[in-house]
Amino acid sequence: MTGRIPENILEEILSRIDIVEVISGYLSLKKTGRNFKANCPFHHEKTASFMVSADRQIYHCFGCGESGNAFKFLMRHERMDFPEAVEILAKKSGVTLPQRENPESVKAESLSNKLYKINELALGFFENNLISPAGASSRDYLLKRGIRQETVKEFRLGLAPGGWDNLINFLRSKGVPLSLVESAGLVLIKDGGGYYDRFRNRIIFPIFDVRSRVIGFGARVLDDSLPKYVNSPETPVYTKGKNLFGLNLSKDFIRDSDCVVIVEGYLDFIIPYQEGVKNIVASQGTALTVEQIKLLKRYTNNVVMIFDGDQAGEMATLRSLDILIDEGINVRVAPLPKGMDPDVLVRRSGPEGLKTKIAQSLSFFDYKLDLLKSRHDINDAHGKSKIAAEMLSTINKFDNAILKCEYTKKLAEAIKIPERHIVEELNKIKPLQNSEAAGPVFKKKRVEINPAEKLLVKFMLEEKELIEKIMQELSLSDFQDERTAKVVSAIQEMAVQGKNIQPNFLMNYFSEDEATQFVCETIFMPDLDDQDREKAVNDCINRIKVDRLKSKREHLHNEINAAQVSGDEQKLNSLIKEFHNLIKKGD
Ligand code: UTP
Ligand code: MN
Repeated sequence: MTGRIPENILEEILSRIDIVEVISGYLSLKKTGRNFKANCPFHHEKTASFMVSADRQIYHCFGCGESGNAFKFLMRHERMDFPEAVEILAKKSGVTLPQRENPESVKAESLSNKLYKINELALGFFENNLISPAGASSRDYLLKRGIRQETVKEFRLGLAPGGWDNLINFLRSKGVPLSLVESAGLVLIKDGGGYYDRFRNRIIFPIFDVRSRVIGFGARVLDDSLPKYVNSPETPVYTKGKNLFGLNLSKDFIRDSDCVVIVEGYLDFIIPYQEGVKNIVASQGTALTVEQIKLLKRYTNNVVMIFDGDQAGEMATLRSLDILIDEGINVRVAPLPKGMDPDVLVRRSGPEGLKTKIAQSLSFFDYKLDLLKSRHDINDAHGKSKIAAEMLSTINKFDNAILKCEYTKKLAEAIKIPERHIVEELNKIKPLQNSEAAGPVFKKKRVEINPAEKLLVKFMLEEKELIEKIMQELSLSDFQDERTAKVVSAIQEMAVQGKNIQPNFLMNYFSEDEATQFVCETIFMPDLDDQDREKAVNDCINRIKVDRLKSKREHLHNEINAAQVSGDEQKLNSLIKEFHNLIKKGD
């Protein structure tokens, strides 16, 4: 992990920031004793096993093992590389990073960074165009849609001019290579070669990530022509299913209200947000993905879905419901009458109209049952069986047995069938396969580290004085586990440099996840009383010595056998001598 940034700079950054503050920017942390906990963002779980230690400035998940300091958290959570994570926290802490001596590395600025910059340039161009004389009719259109001028500014709406090469010419004048503009999804390649603008004569809705970087664009026509929207394609910085429109603006409101309203469209976000319903995100017209839900879970577990009152909205709601429940979200649905969407609702009945709908929202059960009753005849046997099958496929997604049981009972009452038959059908549904595509970051079966080695490392991290004592008794080669040896060697290195041995600093000295995980795990081991501790240190040292002797003895034993087989008398004699010496020492 070290790279070219000197350790003392890394340590300076780490000592100025607070990991609890960094992580609470992404997760809702709950205080528990001296630590904080949350649902782990790195694997699927319904009870919190992700711990953050304020004292030691590290995090560790007891479920999946993911661990580290603040740099590592950003790397994993925001998919940054190490230098990027260092840069972010250096800025936050006011530490100046030394100039990179190699100009090549500046050139080798990551592709993503280049694309963010190009998107930003393009957005500036679109924004200017909207406020220019050429933007008059678009400004009128936005006003007619109820979007106020300050909202246009806040959302940074823009206008793509008509014509095939306005953006191209602008970016060219800024010296941006068009091949990169193409990677950003802003231009398309002509059949005969060359490029043309993707967005033409459309209102631009920029799409930001949670860190408010421009990652893509949605572009709406000004009339009824089709397609209504042209969107950015997937690019190295934009994946539609991994992002939620507006979350960069609404995340704090979502965290504070511990609830999020999910709508479909850009306008369905902008109008309610402008009128004061601020805990909101837009799915951009599709069913939610697992990744989007994981993103939301950083801020809340409570969702109210308000999709358009049309068939597409209904379908998207049903599909989203299953995924939300599967992810352990507490979800309600506020259905809208035919032809209505949140934007129209707020313009007609104000934010109060939307708030009333939210207050009257239905449980998944009532929503889905109502819908199914409109599609199938609940009084007919086939209708009942269809309704039951569809309800059960969702009920089956609940992890909580009590909820499952309650909903099964409710379903039995609703379709007037004895509960045991419903349970029988529920049991026929195959056990859920874990549908996580990404999979946990780190879930290898691991060999447990010898407890004596583990405890000694814990002690060394807690009490500097013990390092010397322990290293007088043991040498690096006495630690049999590679992970412990790595960690102990880093501790020694820091001790030699006269450094303060803090676990969050220590892990800058090695890049192995397993060693990092091991350090973090020891931090959350229960503490011992002082007198127990002294005894424990001696016990551990002795145990490691005994283990070492034992393995040496085994090794010699094998060699003696081999010498006997090969008939090497001389070697045999010297081995036997060595063996006797060893046994004497061991007593
Ligand atoms: P809507 O058709 O409901 O559009 O699609 P809207 O945003 O509410 O716009 P208005 O109110 O008609 O002006 C909902 C969302 O689906 C995506 C967009 O993200 C849109 O906001 N969509 C829709 C597309 O990507 N392409 C389309 O052609 C239509
Ligand atoms: Mn709409």
